[in-house]
Amino acid sequence: MSDEALSTRVADAYEAYFGTAPEVATSAPGRVNLLGEHTDYNGGAVLPMALRGLGVGIAIGRGPEPGVLTAYSDTFHDAETRRIDESAAGRWSDYVLGSLKSVAEADVAETGARIALITTLPMGAGLSSSAALEVACLRAASTLFQRPMSAVDIAVRARAVENGFVGMPCGIMDQFAVSVGKPGEALFLDTRTLEHAPAPALPGHRFVVVHSGVSHQLTEDGYATRVAECAAACDALGVEMLSDLGTDDLDRLTGLSPVLERRARHVITDNQRARDGLAALKNGDAPAFAQLMIDSHASERDDFEITVPETDALAAMALEFGALGARQTGGGWGGAVVALVPDANVATFGEAVTARFPDARVLAIT
Ligand code: GLA
Repeated sequence: MSDEALSTRVADAYEAYFGTAPEVATSAPGRVNLLGEHTDYNGGAVLPMALRGLGVGIAIGRGPEPGVLTAYSDTFHDAETRRIDESAAGRWSDYVLGSLKSVAEADVAETGARIALITTLPMGAGLSSSAALEVACLRAASTLFQRPMSAVDIAVRARAVENGFVGMPCGIMDQFAVSVGKPGEALFLDTRTLEHAPAPALPGHRFVVVHSGVSHQLTEDGYATRVAECAAACDALGVEMLSDLGTDDLDRLTGLSPVLERRARHVITDNQRARDGLAALKNGDAPAFAQLMIDSHASERDDFEITVPETDALAAMALEFGALGARQTGGGWGGAVVALVPDANVATFGEAVTARFPDARVLAIT
């Protein structure tokens, strides 16, 4: 569904639910990450791509009760009512509440607010459904309450909502890709400096995003454990961030415990792979990009240990089904695999994947 269609649909859903038209309707896309996983909170490079046709639509209006926010999800047919001064409560409306607090707490205290949302992004696919929800809420609220913000400001704020309100210790990749990225275009981001630039497409090839059918849940311990392991590796190595180290420093890791050595090696090498990936895109070198994807998956599996048997099998079989390279994308422990597929193989690739993996589903072809 196009961005405009999503905004129109969510405006209709708002009106049907609340009985009055919204004042603002907007949307934000999901993202797929092509290279550079768990490098963002280590100050490294990432190469995500905002998705065309998959995202979150938000419609917002003021009223009727000062200090009260009602959020209605048309996708889940569920509504939650919160006070704007409440803390997070482990509910889906935390993302909406945290975003509104961040940009317009005083406004909502005065006027109240109502929000409808529609998501076309599957939850737990590793495609940034929560970042899309936050960014869409921030866009909608900043427009409604006339608090203009740049796309970068929105990304920074959305990450702060996630870290400080929701309590998920993520990096900035997702919010940045969703807020700043252009759907269908890869975006290179140095997460330390926030320097960024669009990256060219690979002519004659598509990135195909396939949900493995295994839903991940990042607020469970795994993600925070990896963040803590990376911090422990920094302490042991005497560096501020793992991105202070390059592939020339890999021999420095031998003094670490085996687990920390593997974690640090993944971050250092995947940071390099995101940088090499940008060069491959600029050179139009699909085989080189594909090899980086294959190496990245192996590193996610063997060193960072964030894959599951289903995504391992999907990434491996993708190569037999006509992809040049494939890897698990996103936070980990399931979710989607992204494959680089020559145009001529895209149709048969999708058919072969779903025939072999009945739980898998092609979500996007960009
Ligand atoms: C999640 C987080 C991101 C990033 C990825 C892994 O999507 O939100 O900040 O760490 O995992 O690359």
